[in-house]
Amino acid sequence: PHLRTDLATGPAGRATPATAEQERRLPFPTGFVWGAATAAYQIEGGAAEDDRTPSIWDTFSHTPGRVRNGDTGDIAADHYHRYRDDVALMAELGLQAYRFSISWSRVQPTGRGPAVERGLDFYRRLVDELLEAGVAPVATLYHWDLPQELEDAGGWPVRDTAERFGEYAAIMADALGDRVALWTTLNEPWCSAYLGYGSGVHAPGRTHGPDALRSAHHLNLAHGRAIAAIRARLGSSAQTSITLNLHQVRPFSQSPADLDAARRIDAVGNRIFTGPILDGSYPADLCQDTAALVDWNALVRPGDLAAISAPIDRLGINYYTPTLVSAPDRAGASAVRSDAHGVSEYSPWPGSEDVVHHQAPGPTTAMGWAVDPSGLYDLVTDVSRRYPRLPLMITENGAAFDDYVSPEGEIRDPERIAYLHGHLDAVRRAIADGADVRGYFLWSLMDNFEWAYGYGKRFGAVYVDFPTQRRIPKSSAHWYADVLRRNSLPP
Ligand code: NOJ
Repeated sequence: PHLRTDLATGPAGRATPATAEQERRLPFPTGFVWGAATAAYQIEGGAAEDDRTPSIWDTFSHTPGRVRNGDTGDIAADHYHRYRDDVALMAELGLQAYRFSISWSRVQPTGRGPAVERGLDFYRRLVDELLEAGVAPVATLYHWDLPQELEDAGGWPVRDTAERFGEYAAIMADALGDRVALWTTLNEPWCSAYLGYGSGVHAPGRTHGPDALRSAHHLNLAHGRAIAAIRARLGSSAQTSITLNLHQVRPFSQSPADLDAARRIDAVGNRIFTGPILDGSYPADLCQDTAALVDWNALVRPGDLAAISAPIDRLGINYYTPTLVSAPDRAGASAVRSDAHGVSEYSPWPGSEDVVHHQAPGPTTAMGWAVDPSGLYDLVTDVSRRYPRLPLMITENGAAFDDYVSPEGEIRDPERIAYLHGHLDAVRRAIADGADVRGYFLWSLMDNFEWAYGYGKRFGAVYVDFPTQRRIPKSSAHWYADVLRRNSLPP
């Protein structure tokens, strides 16, 4: 079965008609795509296998002190060897789509020049397996694992990295072609730029505000180059997208100072990406706020904005928690100098270092992130009002909790079910209120390497017992399977 049409059809149809039995359930539109997501470095392992060379995350995780407990992605969930079983599990759960990422240094070990067949073969086999199981492949080209050789040549602060990314995108478009239902160029370039080069809590661990901003532009340019490469090879039949972790920025109060703090965070956190990609320009207030850090006129070359703003078919949104900020003079009792990324003391938002981040109200997950589905509702309705003709996909949403296997061998995770219920209902309400949301991908299919937190944070619907690599679906996996089978939420 070839499900690409599921992702390519027009606006989602009317809600599934309620049968007597379904009457009290909360329906989703017919054709709504249900999936789950992962990323290469977080699950694959096989770090030194076949022709793969280190990415910045291999280097970073092997540097003492960078990742909790000294965890690395060397083995991860061993998906490189277990992908067949993992796809079978997806089919069992009834997933319609699977969002995965491609390890750049597995297919193009030096980040330039010809690809290696053994690396490509892994993704060809994975895609074959998915299609045979009736699961639509949604491929992300970059989920943070830059080939180390390209970092050694300057990394994302250097323009050439964007050109290399365009070539790599062409290789993947040739290799997987029309068998990929939806291409995503980048995952959360905010993290690549600001956590990688600003606060340094992610690979490559550099801390230089101007380089973080230069990276943001080169990531945008890389996206544009990749879209051009995919279009050149696959034409308009290819479905293309980028995934952004758009922040639902909330001011601490309605004071002018707090509103301005929110505006600045929105500029450097959101509009630095949506501006060039969807509006064709960098916002004037962003350029002004960061003028002391970068010379935008020199950074952005003629033709860049046209390339970056090439039309895309979907916008992917990742959402976990809202972002609550205030002006510096409001550092009262509840102010915490850290944000949802565990970053304290040094703000990862270049040009907005003095903005104070606050713990958002509400219960928290194991990450310390506030649970607030209204943030997702507000985000989706805001974005769809702003870009009414651009269909949206929720490409990540989920929660980490301290899951454990009970003596009966079960993982009961009612908090995750409640989290998913609340957020799916927010998506459903946003659709009912006019937002064009075409699908939802739970983060994550299974427990995995949670970056600087290592294996200590479990986001999976499926539990992974890392010493044995056994997979055990948690209660939430069964719950989610029932939701997607019935295309509706329990009341
Ligand atoms: C966003 C990232 O894309 C993903 O890799 C990460 O594991 C989740 N958020 C949870 O932090």
